[in-house]
Amino acid sequence: MSTHPWWQTTVIYQIYPRSFQDTSGNGVGDLPGITSRLDYLSDTLGVGAIWISPFYKSPMADFGYDVADYTSVDPLFGTMNDFDELLDEVHARGMKLIIDWVPNHSSDEHPWFVESRSSRDNPKRDWYTWRDPKPDGSPPNNWVSAFTGPAWNFDETTGQYYLCTFTTKQADLNWRNPEVQEAMLADLAFWLDRGVDGIRVDVAHFVMKDPELRDNPLVEGEPVINTKDHGEYDLYEHIYDKGHEDNHALYRDVRALLDSYQPERFSVGEIYIADWREWASYYGDLDELHLPFNFSLLWAPWTAAGISGEVNAAEAAIPPGGWPSYVLGNHDNNRIATRFGEEQMPLAAMLLLTLRGVPTLYYGDELGIPERYIPPEQQLDPHGRLLPGAGRDGCRTPMQWDSSAHAGFSSDGTETTWLPLSDDWSDRNVAKHLDDPGSLLNLYRRLLAYRASSDDLQTGDYTHLEAPEGCFAYRRGDLTVALNFTNEELVLQFGGSVELSTYPDDEATPGRLRPHEGIIIK
Ligand code: NOJ
Repeated sequence: MSTHPWWQTTVIYQIYPRSFQDTSGNGVGDLPGITSRLDYLSDTLGVGAIWISPFYKSPMADFGYDVADYTSVDPLFGTMNDFDELLDEVHARGMKLIIDWVPNHSSDEHPWFVESRSSRDNPKRDWYTWRDPKPDGSPPNNWVSAFTGPAWNFDETTGQYYLCTFTTKQADLNWRNPEVQEAMLADLAFWLDRGVDGIRVDVAHFVMKDPELRDNPLVEGEPVINTKDHGEYDLYEHIYDKGHEDNHALYRDVRALLDSYQPERFSVGEIYIADWREWASYYGDLDELHLPFNFSLLWAPWTAAGISGEVNAAEAAIPPGGWPSYVLGNHDNNRIATRFGEEQMPLAAMLLLTLRGVPTLYYGDELGIPERYIPPEQQLDPHGRLLPGAGRDGCRTPMQWDSSAHAGFSSDGTETTWLPLSDDWSDRNVAKHLDDPGSLLNLYRRLLAYRASSDDLQTGDYTHLEAPEGCFAYRRGDLTVALNFTNEELVLQFGGSVELSTYPDDEATPGRLRPHEGIIIK
């Protein structure tokens, strides 16, 4: 029996609920749809945990990341009974369910905000951040929305601005008010009491801000380039509008709440911080978040040196006893098949599933679904509408199950799906991939099965190994993993026998790597 808690040895699969499976015929995915596909996740694929992006009541200004009631299910996605059934069925298959928790902001349609905006002396006024305009009528400070434009919205009724770090329909909660803390943790406990196994914390480091709301300084020199163009947002050093040290006390409280449950409940935080020390501070003394998501592989150059540099930096930054995590794709970034190139997908799969720590796999990346181009004027995503080029619709297209109408995502009679399918869905889908022994999906299945049976991969130490240029090699316990990032053959000096190769034939050897080949050697 492993002495490691479940979350350390699991593989997380992220589901964007609008896009996984539609059972109601309206072209939008729903909770019963996820339930209907659980066998795929547990048996066909073999992941251990599912993280579902928000399904709570919401006006969908940011497709659910604008929550109007934290303890509800939006009718678009189903009912609370549907949720309970999903949770039961996940547990019946020995899997875990992680839900999204969005503490930084609520929808402006949340009853708390409706009250708060109703008058300056409403008891909930201070649940959000309200400030007078500057004498010239402009916003209280220079903070910019992560989606571009001012992070403040003027409210005519009471003549003040409220803080909104994302869209104007997402009002930042004031976590410095103890009543907010109490209400939010009570809403979180609602789900923990229902039996959810963990939470993914949305923009975890944004929650606490500078209490004096000081202006952010401008970036000196070149702004740090992310995978998306964030326009105006990247012009500032975000030292006052997020990342305040008081976040740590908050996550200690969240952790205490999670730890008060048996069996163990888990948290993973969305922490987009490039500075390793600051990033790692969210582990606390292992008393804050169980894991901060590590997004560094999304930004690194796709070369052996680029990727190994990030992995080594993460390993060095994580506090003793802390556990790593890796992400190659999610609902906010361009699809990896398009970012790295199709021929790199097998290598990416082996990388993700052989590093030390918890891998998170984004739905559809096991098929190599490419980014779908959606022109700015057709973008539904608020970020894409505000900032052409930043749109995220292209990585949120419906899951591709088979070659029937709507790729099996929606029923035949459905008029149209909420986003179009990616172009190659009739060839690239689960049914077709299952029939092809050399498919990416079958490689994912082999890797997941191997990982599930290997203590070395699940919990073994990580050591970076010397290897020819272009090859990233590491030891995991008694195993060696060697990844060729080049399109040339590379000669290796490793002994042993090949356990698994990203090539579907039997010709892999520990003495050489074919172009873009990855191997696991014992
Ligand atoms: C991060 C989420 O991943 C993203 O989709 C959302 O738009 C913002 N947070 C705001 O909640």
